[in-house]
Amino acid sequence: MSEAGIIDGKVHAQALWRRVADEVAWLKAEHGVQPGLAVVLVGDDPASQIYVRSKGEQSRAAGMYSVTHRLDAQTPQAEVVALVAALNADPAIDGILVQLPLPSAIDEQAVVEAIDPDKDVDGLSVVNAGRLATGRPGLTPCTPLGCMILLRATLGDLTGLNAVVVGRSVLVGRPMAQLLLAADCTVTIAHSRTRDLPGLCRQADILVAAVGRPAMIRGDWIKPGATVIDVGINRVPFSDPAKAAEGRTKVVGDVDFKEARRVAGWITPAPGGVGLMTVACLLANTLTAAKRSRGLVESFPGGAEGR
Ligand SMILES: NC(=O)c1ccc[n+]([C@@H]2O[C@H](COP(=O)([O-])OP(=O)(O)OC[C@H]3O[C@@H](n4cnc5c(N)ncnc54)[C@H](OP(=O)(O)O)[C@@H]3O)[C@@H](O)[C@H]2O)c1
Repeated sequence: MSEAGIIDGKVHAQALWRRVADEVAWLKAEHGVQPGLAVVLVGDDPASQIYVRSKGEQSRAAGMYSVTHRLDAQTPQAEVVALVAALNADPAIDGILVQLPLPSAIDEQAVVEAIDPDKDVDGLSVVNAGRLATGRPGLTPCTPLGCMILLRATLGDLTGLNAVVVGRSVLVGRPMAQLLLAADCTVTIAHSRTRDLPGLCRQADILVAAVGRPAMIRGDWIKPGATVIDVGINRVPFSDPAKAAEGRTKVVGDVDFKEARRVAGWITPAPGGVGLMTVACLLANTLTAAKRSRGLVESFPGGAEGR
């Protein structure tokens, strides 16, 4: 039996980044506009520092104005909200991203809701969730947006396909389901209380795993020929006992890749799939916000997911 085709996140992310960079150059040349992205990092979480650095580097490389505000972990919530308010009012800034998680003393949702919804390039505010749910133009969370771009590029028209999304988080599962619904899929959302999850997954033409459990989805859960999008990023010890003994870890997805590849038609690797799309989508959202606020024709009509 033939193996599933690999949906290469690197190739798609580079193509999207290139498209954004070209648009930014055009905006500057034709309209004198340089889209601006502000990233706010509170505290010194090592993973967050890496993500924030990459967002800054990639936005600058695409020709955007990019600024990172690094605040001490002890910064009071009111001060973070005041910074967000200043960025809301700053005409040089089109997109604001507050890197999550925030220190436990800060109410994350309160900070996210302080962001002007038209600058909320992470798409996590209630206003943008509502816009997505009601089919109005908004800003869509970057990870599900990236999944949608991969699906469109691989399958084209998704009309009528059965999609199962495993996971119902505000960050991934819910917006993913909304995007698939908007693309005329028949959508089921599964979660930790779902009965007969393997049987449900076997009905899916499109299976999206956003769970956070290493290799939970096995090969025999997958319908032959299905397209599998693995959002999971899980750190596990190396299977090689010598490396594991050194405390070394590797990243695996929510899907058992080896098993799934023998059954699926298409699959995203993890790492190397969805994760690489997230920053490119952040830049696409910043470009969309910059154009919308100036009444310019959007680069991604109907949204960057390519409807
Ligand atoms: N850039 C990226 O690629 C990116 C971005 C974000 C997240 N991720 C990764 O994606 C994964 C999911 O992230 P998240 O933020 O959505 O996680 P989350 O908020 O923890 O949500 C996990 C979801 O999975 C469900 N779940 C947990 N155990 C389950 C089980 N045994 N069977 C069925 N469903 C189960 C939960 O159900 P309940 O609601 O019933 O608890 C919940 O809805 C993580 O590995 C994360 O690291 C990747």
